[in-house]
Amino acid sequence: SVAAPPRRGALIVIEGCDRTGKTTQAMKLVEYLNGSDRKAIFMRFPDRTTPIGCLIDSYLSRGVNLEDQVIHLLFSANRWESHPKIISTLKSGASVIIDRYAFSGVAFSAAKESLGLQWCKGSDAGLPKPDVVLFLDLPLEQAATRGEYGSERYEELKFQQRVYKNYMALRDDTWKMIDASKSIEEVQRSMEAEVERVMKESKFGPLPGLWW
Ligand code: TMP
Repeated sequence: SVAAPPRRGALIVIEGCDRTGKTTQAMKLVEYLNGSDRKAIFMRFPDRTTPIGCLIDSYLSRGVNLEDQVIHLLFSANRWESHPKIISTLKSGASVIIDRYAFSGVAFSAAKESLGLQWCKGSDAGLPKPDVVLFLDLPLEQAATRGEYGSERYEELKFQQRVYKNYMALRDDTWKMIDASKSIEEVQRSMEAEVERVMKESKFGPLPGLWW
């Protein structure tokens, strides 16, 4: 007899303004899942290791200037180039934990006011929709006091306030707000609880497309 195909993995996205602890928490979540016998991989956007990612890195560190539309589309393209890997990993039964996704793409680009929210959503529409978005919520004044804040483009309070507002406009019932002012361990535990809940409740049917 042929073994049943594995149940697909969960697509878990971590979002939040700059310096809210997303990367630390994403990595801890991967460790937690792998440590309890559930395969999970870590991904992050921007993925600065690809040629498109190198260009994005250079833009963020103010090495090059690009039109607002151009950098927006590069961030999207940088996600689409990982699309096959996301799909094949989920199909293999492993979960994918992603540090930033299309919500960052829209929230940051649309904070420039030269670009509208609807226009920004277009280039990411059709990417797999996450099973859950864990939003690390932290007062922006508090984030601004964290290490190295201000070293990259966008790390400026007024800009982050517009980003935050855009994030809130993108929320739906798959979003969970996580109080990121708590200790690393406390944040970790509330994220683990959300993920356990999602993994228990979700039917993990076919992956719907984002913003379709
Ligand atoms: P990082 O600090 O998580 O590497 O993100 C770098 C910056 O890029 C951060 O300020 C958020 C911004 N960003 C966008 O503007 N659009 C995007 O699509 C992504 C993924 C990040």
